[in-house]
Amino acid sequence: MCGIIGYIGGGDAVKTVYGGLKRLEYRGYDSAGAAFLTDGKIRVYKKQGRVEKLYPLLDGVRSRIGIGHTRWATHGVPSDTNAHPHRAGGIAVVHNGIIENYAALKAELISDGAKFVSDTDSEVIAHLLLKNYNGDLTEALFKTVKLLKGSYALMAICEYEEKIAVARYKSPLILGYGNGENFCASDEPALYGLSEKITVLEDGDLAEITAKSVKIFDKNFKRAERETEPNLAVSASLGLDGCPHYMLKELRETPLSVEATARAFKGVKDKLVSALSGVKRFVFTGCGTAYHAALCGKRYIESFARIPAECETAGEFRYKNPVLGEDTAVIAVSQSGETADTVEAAGLARSLGAKVVAITNSHRSQLTRLADVVVPVAAGPEICVAATKSYTGQIAALYLLAAAVAGEKFYNDCAEKISKTPALISATLESLDMRSLAHICASSSGVYFLGRDLDYAVALEGSLKLKEISYVPGEGYPAGELKHGTLALIDVNTTSVVIITDKVLAEKSENAIEQVLSRGGKVAVITNVNGVRERFSDLPTVVLPECDKYLSPLLAAVAVQLLAYKAAAVLGREIDKPRNLAKSVTVE
Ligand code: M6R
Repeated sequence: MCGIIGYIGGGDAVKTVYGGLKRLEYRGYDSAGAAFLTDGKIRVYKKQGRVEKLYPLLDGVRSRIGIGHTRWATHGVPSDTNAHPHRAGGIAVVHNGIIENYAALKAELISDGAKFVSDTDSEVIAHLLLKNYNGDLTEALFKTVKLLKGSYALMAICEYEEKIAVARYKSPLILGYGNGENFCASDEPALYGLSEKITVLEDGDLAEITAKSVKIFDKNFKRAERETEPNLAVSASLGLDGCPHYMLKELRETPLSVEATARAFKGVKDKLVSALSGVKRFVFTGCGTAYHAALCGKRYIESFARIPAECETAGEFRYKNPVLGEDTAVIAVSQSGETADTVEAAGLARSLGAKVVAITNSHRSQLTRLADVVVPVAAGPEICVAATKSYTGQIAALYLLAAAVAGEKFYNDCAEKISKTPALISATLESLDMRSLAHICASSSGVYFLGRDLDYAVALEGSLKLKEISYVPGEGYPAGELKHGTLALIDVNTTSVVIITDKVLAEKSENAIEQVLSRGGKVAVITNVNGVRERFSDLPTVVLPECDKYLSPLLAAVAVQLLAYKAAAVLGREIDKPRNLAKSVTVE
């Protein structure tokens, strides 16, 4: 994780680096820092906390060469000292990634006399650069990365040359081009408004950037040519449209996300169907919320196309020596397209001969580069760390993918059904009043989300969302499994939110309600099944519009997301940037 940016040229490096860090803050916000070359000296400014804490430190700083970093802590607590850049002598470096062999490298450097000040893995890189420096920073970086195990996107500057040396392996890094100035950054939004052309570096690449030139080298330090592409980023600093938080604004954009995703699907349908013809088994994978969408995908492909399917979190899948071959399709779901576990899982699948389909909101990412087919999620930029409209966009894309695999007629029916769903989601958002239930959840010692089948997938998402932004503990649980253990946790201080959108399974889930009530637990119901509301009229009930059962997750999702949002608001949490998290998890 972490976001990094570098600038060199005739303009204001301080303003550019600071602005870029603000746009990169979604990648981590434990601390921020920058290093600038001013009058032949490297000066480092860093501070624990949000990027804005750095602002007063930069007052009056003038420079034309600088690098910056916003951190999501992996090694070492968030603190001023552990913040990047790290320096050794006249060299400063910023790092996104994890150096797995840092302990051995550190011990060796200490025995050579190096003095360490931080607890980070990254500080070894600064000392290695100093040790390997022999008049050429790029060459020193090449020698240094040869010693590193793990993942890295690196930018280094020094007091002896006017250049930025960069390198990447398994962490994203792009170059941007200007007139008499050049840039480097973790992603395209960081260069929004600065650079219209970018180059995405490949794993193992290094580059030497001056104000007038950019030289790229491959992993053997041979000059390399890489494609220059347009910067497709739209402004990441979009307004809040009158909403108090991005989460609420993005939640309200759910109907648009579903509609635009369904429209975009038409453009890839034929390619997708042809790539998946003959596939005998599907594996769905992703992390966090994307994994919860993937669970719906598994269910859709089994129901619509009657093809066996599995679903596993990417972090498990990549290490289990999976059985894959040419007749298997791996559907990798990721909002960012940069999640390390998901990218690795997709890469593994590809290396084993499986077809790889990416379902992603990021149309140029590590995941899209690996995939045979990219199915776009057209949710637009999602700034809040908690995923909302991207999740519903993913479900829409997976629904259409499964329908397309099931055949033309089936697809046409499903396309017709989903075209009516944005209006139902809008109606749901307008009618929901979560205030009292949010207060109940906010004051509960634990909140359990229960459901069966697709409702269980939404239950997992509801629980994750509530935990993530309100810090209220709990679990998402299959309603039928409750009595096999979790029921022991139920008491008067707990709340169970039972999701029932499947008529056939309604009675079964109602049993779970009775079991919780008879143990004194509080219960709330989210349903669009006639009869359920009447039966439990004395319980807090959230009524959703009637809807095809396979599309009900789209309605139930906005209900649980809004509930989590309101509960977090009751507790006064920092909703868009929950503690300990980052939007894009590019480390293991
Ligand atoms: O970018 P991705 O979809 O791959 O991210 C996966 C998870 O990190 C992400 O969904 C996470 O669980 C969200 N913060 C949940 O709201």
